[in-house]
Amino acid sequence: MAAKGKTTYDDVPYTSLPFAQTHPDRLAALARLFGVEAPSLERCRVLELGCASGGNLIPMALTLPGAEFVGIDLSSVQINDGLAVVAALGLGNVRLSATSITEIDSASGPFDYIIAHGVYSWVPDEVQTRMLDICSRQLAPDGIAFISFNTLPGWRTRGVVRDLMRYHAMQFAEPRARIEQARGMADFLASSVAAANTGYETLVRAEIETLRGQADDYVLHEYLEDTNEPLYFHQFVERAGNHGLQYLADADFGTMLASNFAPEVAQALVRIAPDVIRQEQVMDFLRNRTFRQALLVHESVRVNRKITPDRLRGLGISGSFQVEAAAFDIRSSDVVAFRGVRGNRLRTGNRITKAAVMILNEFWPRSVPFEDVVRRARTMLRDWAAPSIGTDTEAEATLAADMLRCFGAGMVQLHATPSSFSTAPRDRPVASPLARLQARNDMRVTNLRHEPVQIDADLARLIQLLDGTRSREDIERVALEWATANAAASGAPTPGEMERVVKDRVAEALRQFAKLALLV
Ligand SMILES: C[S@@+](CC[C@H](N)C(=O)[O-])C[C@H]1O[C@@H](n2cnc3c(N)ncnc32)[C@H](O)[C@@H]1O
Repeated sequence: MAAKGKTTYDDVPYTSLPFAQTHPDRLAALARLFGVEAPSLERCRVLELGCASGGNLIPMALTLPGAEFVGIDLSSVQINDGLAVVAALGLGNVRLSATSITEIDSASGPFDYIIAHGVYSWVPDEVQTRMLDICSRQLAPDGIAFISFNTLPGWRTRGVVRDLMRYHAMQFAEPRARIEQARGMADFLASSVAAANTGYETLVRAEIETLRGQADDYVLHEYLEDTNEPLYFHQFVERAGNHGLQYLADADFGTMLASNFAPEVAQALVRIAPDVIRQEQVMDFLRNRTFRQALLVHESVRVNRKITPDRLRGLGISGSFQVEAAAFDIRSSDVVAFRGVRGNRLRTGNRITKAAVMILNEFWPRSVPFEDVVRRARTMLRDWAAPSIGTDTEAEATLAADMLRCFGAGMVQLHATPSSFSTAPRDRPVASPLARLQARNDMRVTNLRHEPVQIDADLARLIQLLDGTRSREDIERVALEWATANAAASGAPTPGEMERVVKDRVAEALRQFAKLALLV
């Protein structure tokens, strides 16, 4: 329990990160697949409930200067941390305030997008009801709400671990002691059930393994808070329905697809549970799912779940692939395997897809409009004198089917707006001002794809120079000064060699910043 007037998040703030899947760019793209035209992003209004210190909202505000962002959180310590970042970046389109969800002014809407990541399961019933009420009353008619929650059945086992950790840790008043004691108790559980060699042991050990990789603030708030109420997906959908809201999709599109199971399981799923809610609920049991990220829209919105190839028109695609063959020929229809960043594979013999993969790799991390990918792929195949791939419509349908498979496997992302960053450094290179600010104290920075990315100490120092005031030569000069100072201490190469090394290092750093989507 926190001191009076303070919340536990004031005592131990949450690490506030960007979640790409909550970005309106991704929400609008996903909505389009289901035939829903979400509000355009340029001038949209976004509300985030439980925004912590704005790690998710502030980077959105930075890349969408014409849009308006409102974030609220109960913890004034976290909000003040966020306000300091807003002030340092001079952002005028984001408002953060220390307010409870239960106190939101009903006149503050409507909002085109409402986001609540990691909040619903961690607040009491009346606050949960209020969250759905806010979505019902303050979401624009064509708006999209994103609410994540802990779900059953996966949280049954995790809940056992949580219960033991809490039972033990509640004897200690100080948050750090609680975390330490709770971790110790979890380790004790893992090592002690081992001897029994039961199914229970396997489940519990896997849970504790996951827990070991988590940061202290996460352990405190996920495992030791008073409230953490997981629920079944169908229960959540029913609650949303009571507020005039319907389920649109899961932010992790692949989890909605029965086709991601073995063919016989997928067929059975369609037979057993023909409608989307039942099917997804049964799949949660098959996966022992623990977490969901639901997109909701008003009941009045017409959702069309038959995803046709034309739904990709108007959307951008980004992806990076590795070819699992020493060489391949885009003119041949031999099947080739491509691996995406998450490790999933696409096997295809389609020439248009092979060409598209090369195009997406060339543009990565930027997105390319789907129509452009089709056009460029056709041109590439023509230039290589490849056999015909059919009419424009046939080629587009083939590529769309493969890209949707890739999207379902998390190998590509879909975007409703063009990328707001560059992959070619300017004459006077500029890196994201947020990343530059973060790099002063941290090597995990937020990129312009709305993702956290890890850089090393050298890059963290260098990125701070990229504020648009220095040419590449100026940057090399500063880097040379740093290198010379280091070399003096370590006994180093000749000045000429050093200059060459620094030049190469700066060039490599700029390449890395470009690939990490950190350059404006
Ligand atoms: C688990 S954290 C999640 C933070 C962030 N959304 C994320 O996913 O990283 C839950 C957040 O909800 C906030 N919170 C809890 N109850 C609240 C309430 N009644 N009103 C506003 N914020 C609340 C907490 O202060 C905390 O920052």
